[in-house]
Amino acid sequence: MSILNSITKSRVWRSFFRHGWPDNPLDRSLIMTTNVFFHLHPVKVNLKSIKATYSLGLGILTVASFISLALTGIMLMFYYVPSVERAFPDIVALQNSVPFGQLFRNMHRWGAHLMVLTCVLHMARVFYTGAYKPPREFNWVIGVVLLILTLGASFTGYLLPWDQLAYWAITVGTSIASYEPVMGALIKKILLGGPEVGQASLTRFYGLHIMVIPALLFLLISLHMWRVRKDGGLAANDLDVAPAEDAQK
Ligand code: HEM
Repeated sequence: MSILNSITKSRVWRSFFRHGWPDNPLDRSLIMTTNVFFHLHPVKVNLKSIKATYSLGLGILTVASFISLALTGIMLMFYYVPSVERAFPDIVALQNSVPFGQLFRNMHRWGAHLMVLTCVLHMARVFYTGAYKPPREFNWVIGVVLLILTLGASFTGYLLPWDQLAYWAITVGTSIASYEPVMGALIKKILLGGPEVGQASLTRFYGLHIMVIPALLFLLISLHMWRVRKDGGLAANDLDVAPAEDAQK
């Protein structure tokens, strides 16, 4: 016991853990405020807002699928080369001869479907509970951008296997984009890097898929979650206002 005591009282230990055992309110709050990951959360939360039946955990599920997609995406990048000669054979090799290649590819694919699904359901939940109303309207707008980015990540990832499905799906998708009234033709050209799907398109889609979109998603998800806190936690907290206080609002 004295060894344990001398470890937990040592300068090295105290430099890592700047709080005591969480059996009192002060140490419990210190845990939340001194940890870079926990400090995103408020020190105290309302029981109503952490009820699973309120948010259904859909926002957190979307974050979890984003993290899993980032990790499995990094694994796939070790093998995949975005060139029209290499892309398809690389995917076949990943499926058939790279250890765990098929597992990571499937986790990445199914994870992408899951992220789109949970993101849309999360949006529906926010709408259903009226959480888009002030003061959360700004966070709703960030959410809309997050949804567009999530769909963008799915769309750009679709071309990368460079199989028939990918080729024709992107041909059709970018042709639809070209019908946008003012900038349609320009959008198609910017996306494809030429008149039709080719090496320039693969390079652009790859850059968007592995760098631009994930970086924007990371930035905006951080902003989105920070705003949840700044707006007073989840909207469920507002339901806690006493009737008299409510009338003054
Ligand atoms: C990448 C996509 C997204 C991620 C990772 C994400 C993440 C989260 C998380 C973790 C929360 C808090 C917990 C929860 O409500 O489950 C939250 C709340 C919120 N989200 Fe999202 N979200 C995303 C997309 C969206 C979309 C598409 C909208 C709406 C257009 C939206 C609007 C909101 C709003 C208004 C809140 C506050 C809800 C409340 O106070 O009850 N989010 N989001």
